[in-house]
Amino acid sequence: MLRAIHAGAEILRHYFEGTFEIQSKDTLNNLVTEVDKKSEDAIIDVIKSEFPEHFILSEEVGELSTSSNYKWIIDPIDGTVNFAHGIPICCISIGLECDGQMLMGTVFNPFMNELFFAERGKGAFLNNKPLKVSANAQMEIACLVTGFPYRWAAIDTDPIPVFERFVRLGLPVRRLGSAAIDLCWVAAGRFDGFWEYNLNPWDVAAGYLIVEEAGGRISNFNGDPYNVYDKQTLATNGKIHEQMLALISN
Ligand code: IPD
Ligand code: CA
Ligand code: CA
Repeated sequence: MLRAIHAGAEILRHYFEGTFEIQSKDTLNNLVTEVDKKSEDAIIDVIKSEFPEHFILSEEVGELSTSSNYKWIIDPIDGTVNFAHGIPICCISIGLECDGQMLMGTVFNPFMNELFFAERGKGAFLNNKPLKVSANAQMEIACLVTGFPYRWAAIDTDPIPVFERFVRLGLPVRRLGSAAIDLCWVAAGRFDGFWEYNLNPWDVAAGYLIVEEAGGRISNFNGDPYNVYDKQTLATNGKIHEQMLALISN
């Protein structure tokens, strides 16, 4: 997993702030670059060379399905819009699932040299140092982060009213542009909470385990146990989870 993420990171570093092809996907601002595809190829090559029989789900190629119980869930650049604009808040995310349970995950932002890693039951780490969520138990003084989909018509819930509720409380709400980094920064205690509608499994596969292993809580907007195929994501330090849930699902 680490070899794979470093292979992708080398490609991101090589092209960052240089020239590369950029295309729109389903909507004008949902971008894919040639760097996403090259990073994806490099990551998949490493995984395939070690585990040719494993199932792969990766954002740009989709499913490379096999009958294996092991599934690698890959986002070759999370924060492609940032990457395309030369904003160094982007990363690679790789999760490994077995029989529907996330076993291991890693997120690497090569521009800040931050490598997040978690293994189920063994804790979460940033550059090998153990991670712990924040201790703040009051939503009123929380620092939050969220994200917005590229096209609201694609979802049945308008994200603005919830965003507005938090902003009207006077809370600092950031928008970094990379859901995987948002989750890791909750795990690192930089943010107390993160919510977003309509994420995909490759955005959250690794970050979800990293939050849980750092002592945080992650659920859908009903407070049900999370799974990475959910379309609602609320990740917190655990202590402000119920307060955030009440505000979101009100
Ligand atoms: C996007 C980022 C962003 C989130 C979008 C995602 P991409 O992933 O995670 O923060 O708001 O919903 O699609 O397209 O850069 O891989
Ligand atoms: Ca993504
Ligand atoms: Ca992506």
